[in-house]
Amino acid sequence: MNKDKIYSQPLSKVTPFTFNKEVAEVFDDMVNRSIPFYKELQELIAQLALAYVQPESSIYDLGCSTGETMLQISRKSSTPLSIIGLDSSEQMITKAKKKCQKYPHLLFNKADITDFEFQPSSVFILTYVMQFIAPEKRLSFLKTIYSHLLPKGVLIISEKIKFPNINEDIVGFYEQFKAKNYYSELEIKQKREALENVLISYTLPENIELLKQAGFSIVQPVFQYLNFCCLLAIKND
Ligand SMILES: C[S@@+](CC[C@H](N)C(=O)[O-])C[C@H]1O[C@@H](n2cnc3c(N)ncnc32)[C@H](O)[C@@H]1O
Repeated sequence: MNKDKIYSQPLSKVTPFTFNKEVAEVFDDMVNRSIPFYKELQELIAQLALAYVQPESSIYDLGCSTGETMLQISRKSSTPLSIIGLDSSEQMITKAKKKCQKYPHLLFNKADITDFEFQPSSVFILTYVMQFIAPEKRLSFLKTIYSHLLPKGVLIISEKIKFPNINEDIVGFYEQFKAKNYYSELEIKQKREALENVLISYTLPENIELLKQAGFSIVQPVFQYLNFCCLLAIKND
């Protein structure tokens, strides 16, 4: 696993964060060191996906990056499931195909998930991705997912969240987590700047409300640590 050193040297200008080749190369190290309980969350998502997938239907992993979730599901499944990973970053798709080459039933496509023709499916996974979609597009995007879910189908969505009143405190605790994972103060500061206006998070109640507006009648948080959470949204009609 290549080590993430992207922000380790002082930059004269911090440019907005993108999922380019440099990021794709170190992505697995980056997420393991900067997303709390990343490994455990991946296991939980795989468990949920396998519990809710319906016979003959595929699973979509939207914003699949290097395909980690798809690998986890495949390893836990007793039968080869059809799992489709979509990502708008060419470099992520290249990396994912290489990482998952022993699993030929895993399909990867470079695509913008806000503009994609989905097939009806029982499970959609969206892990730390909606936060990168323009806020004005989020509701119609979630409605599209909802309308392509089979009855009793699920969306497993994880998001970085913000907090009313105590956001600074929570971000401070989160940055202590990053420091414990060997990110320097400079790296933490420059990454924070790079993500400004690129990663736009909502509060937990705002995310739940958006999912309900999109049609989901059951929206249940299944994981939270500081400003990171995962919700299970069920199409119950
Ligand atoms: C934080 S990463 C996702 C992590 C990944 N889901 C996981 O569990 O490891 C965000 C990913 O979403 C992708 N992405 C962002 N906006 C997208 C869009 N509109 N269409 C497709 N992919 C998108 C990025 O290229 C990036 O790979």
